[in-house]
Amino acid sequence: MRRSVEAILRNQADNGAIIASPDFAQYHFCWLRDGSFSAYALDVAGEHEASARYHAWVARAVDGIATTMSDAIAAHRAGEVLDPVRMPPARFAMDGSTVVDDWPNFQVDGYGTWLWSLRRHIDLGGSDALPEHLLESARRVARYLKEFALHPCYDVWEENGGARHTSTLACVYGGLIAGAQLLGDEECERVADEVRSAVLASAASAGYFTKFAGDRDVDASCLWLASPFGLVDSKNEYFAKTVRLIEDRLSYDGGLRRYPGDVYFGGGAWPVLTASLGWHYASVGNFERANRCRGWIEDRIDAEGRLAEQFGGESRDHQHFEEWVSRWGAPARDLTWSHATLVVLSYLLDRPDPVSIMNDRGVRAPNRGTEVEVEVESTGGSGAS
Ligand code: BGC
Repeated sequence: MRRSVEAILRNQADNGAIIASPDFAQYHFCWLRDGSFSAYALDVAGEHEASARYHAWVARAVDGIATTMSDAIAAHRAGEVLDPVRMPPARFAMDGSTVVDDWPNFQVDGYGTWLWSLRRHIDLGGSDALPEHLLESARRVARYLKEFALHPCYDVWEENGGARHTSTLACVYGGLIAGAQLLGDEECERVADEVRSAVLASAASAGYFTKFAGDRDVDASCLWLASPFGLVDSKNEYFAKTVRLIEDRLSYDGGLRRYPGDVYFGGGAWPVLTASLGWHYASVGNFERANRCRGWIEDRIDAEGRLAEQFGGESRDHQHFEEWVSRWGAPARDLTWSHATLVVLSYLLDRPDPVSIMNDRGVRAPNRGTEVEVEVESTGGSGAS
């Protein structure tokens, strides 16, 4: 755990920004998604000062895009067509400025994950109030989330720009609940309820939580619905079925892939997702399975203490692996949020009350009645959707 905390600290600039990966040029930026999970890991590990520097950096970066955010809201209200490239960014340059390129920026999940991480920072750091210098940016992000909560956008893998993605909605939900708590904003709570209802309605029609509304595919990031974002209880019937489907269709060489049709660098198994499965098992008290996830990840840390983005893509789908290598060079060998998710899993395994560090809200009453075990037929792990 300490070695991975050191890796996160090593990948943090003095100004607080956390680089996604130091060894892969495409990732020489700070993503709100990766950075906010990493800040959470820092808080879990007691590195509150480093986490505070990250949150202050985000607040400044968000301050710098105030006009982009208010313009996006105004355009939406005026019914204009939104240009994804001109939406508030998914990632910033390390100095907090925006990058003008054709990256699919419209990814609301990172803004939700930031507010959620900020809330956890305050809780885990022992203070209950939002520091003054973060207030305005937190309000701005809450406004943005309320406006675009249910709007189709790119997913957490920066793909499929036209759909409503389940894991994106989980991040948005977590952010809105945090916004309600941090800012005393009841509207955040109301929109969070709408998000939750939409996600549950879509699960009711499919029988499980699908990758996006109207789809049948699974996506391992849907694990975040319960831990850490608390949109459902881990024992919710649709969630239990989703976990089984995810394991059935996405297990690869002991780890977990992103989604069946993933070909990015051959679509190998990701520490981030294997750790997320471990979070789930720890939260339901299955420490044996959670430990297995931790072991798989730890075995993949190299002699220099680096932990890559994914493993096994080269042999799983050699052709696509090579295609990506010729486009972007060798894949990331040290990915900051791979370390972050491992740190959180290690902490969960070493603590008697794991759920409390994940999500202090718990699940609301209506869901508790539906904790039913469901049998899921094996699909034989197709590898393609
Ligand atoms: C992943 C994103 C991640 C980014 C930086 C992309 O390949 O799909 O989820 O935020 O890399 O790590």
